[in-house]
Amino acid sequence: MRAVTWQGKEKMEVTTVSDPIIQEPTDMIIQITATAICGSDLHLYHHGSAVLEKDYVVGHEPMGIVVETGKEVKKVKKGDRVVIPFNISCGHCHFCTHDMESQCDNSNPNPDVDYGGLFGFGKVNGNYPGGQAEYLRVPFADTSSFVVPESNLPDEKVLFLSDIVPTAWWSVENSQVKPGDTVIVLGSGPVGLLAQKFAKMKGAERVIAVDCIAHRIEHSAKTEGVETFNFMEADKPGKALKELTNGGADVVIDCVGMDGVESKTSEKLLNTLSPQMGTIAPLKTAIECVKKFGTVQMTGVYLSPAAFFPLNELFSRNVVLKSGQAPVVHLMPKLYDMISNDVFDPTEIITHVLPLEKASEAYQMFDEKADHNIKTILKP
Ligand SMILES: NC(=O)c1ccc[n+]([C@@H]2O[C@H](COP(=O)([O-])OP(=O)(O)OC[C@H]3O[C@@H](n4cnc5c(N)ncnc54)[C@H](O)[C@@H]3O)[C@@H](O)[C@H]2O)c1
Ligand SMILES: [Zn+2]
Ligand SMILES: [Zn+2]
Repeated sequence: MRAVTWQGKEKMEVTTVSDPIIQEPTDMIIQITATAICGSDLHLYHHGSAVLEKDYVVGHEPMGIVVETGKEVKKVKKGDRVVIPFNISCGHCHFCTHDMESQCDNSNPNPDVDYGGLFGFGKVNGNYPGGQAEYLRVPFADTSSFVVPESNLPDEKVLFLSDIVPTAWWSVENSQVKPGDTVIVLGSGPVGLLAQKFAKMKGAERVIAVDCIAHRIEHSAKTEGVETFNFMEADKPGKALKELTNGGADVVIDCVGMDGVESKTSEKLLNTLSPQMGTIAPLKTAIECVKKFGTVQMTGVYLSPAAFFPLNELFSRNVVLKSGQAPVVHLMPKLYDMISNDVFDPTEIITHVLPLEKASEAYQMFDEKADHNIKTILKP
């Protein structure tokens, strides 16, 4: 089959790989109809050598049609239309039965780590080749899938249930945004834009979107109707945001992560001796602009230790830091209902729908935020 594979730093290419097969009686194989590129794939694009081998199939936001099921698959049937969550969830461990599927005890056989498995993130993360491909092997098929009810909803409406819609929802719930709050969302990428929408939906009085890319800032203002702040225009963005919110926001949600950009570049010099990958500038900004006793939600991904992390700032201002991979599986049915009842429209962020064969160009465009790109869907 054809699949997007990691070929080295900043090289994602469509190559021919062997078709996936059923390995366990609880597996299924799906034929992919749509699959998205995520900010998390950009971390692999830049730092893939940390977790991937050459030729590894990437992608964790797929959906499609079930073509084959293992003997012990009960709920899902051949022909079903399914969205596959990025968390691989066994469905019966403590974490899977308590809405914490991203920490499933049984989906990551790597003995060196203690967290759940993920599609498209190499052996470290359980060795599950990803979903930017024509076919995908889905382990724990009954629980690592959402069967789309019969409807006229196109793939574009339901695909983001695989990750960014529930991730943004969870980010807002996990950080306990409440009516009247001031919320700063760092990043107006796909995750940030949805977090801005959901923060407003939860009753936040003031939502401030922070980015430096003109078309994304504009999207925040026009489509999400929130205040905007271009961090490149400030010498000290954290300080400026704290002033703008009269002492800081109740909640700051970092939807940027390690591949964010810094307004002033000093961190690289400081970190030459540490194992840090990428930057922690967004997280530092978040800690600076949150209110005393406020909450910083770290949704953006950071994949390495960081030597100059401002632990003292957290401590001295009683800041709560929450983080992690979003547990998305239990949120899919509820968010599907919201989409099918037109409570919100996840297609607003789609700027490009391209054939899978164009993946290499699509990655470059997403990384450069070129051609007004926000979210790209690939179709095999
Ligand atoms: N925790 C989870 O479960 C989970 C799930 C999905 C995605 N993510 C992570 O969420 C993050 C966002 O994903 P995305 O798809 O929206 O990616 P994206 O790269 O498209 O969006 C990031 C945005 O942040 C902006 N940005 C860069 N530096 C910044 C800074 N210093 N301050 C403010 N904004 C800055 C960029 O211009 C960009 O628009 C990524 O780190 C991704 O890995 C986490
Ligand atoms: Zn994703
Ligand atoms: Zn489990």
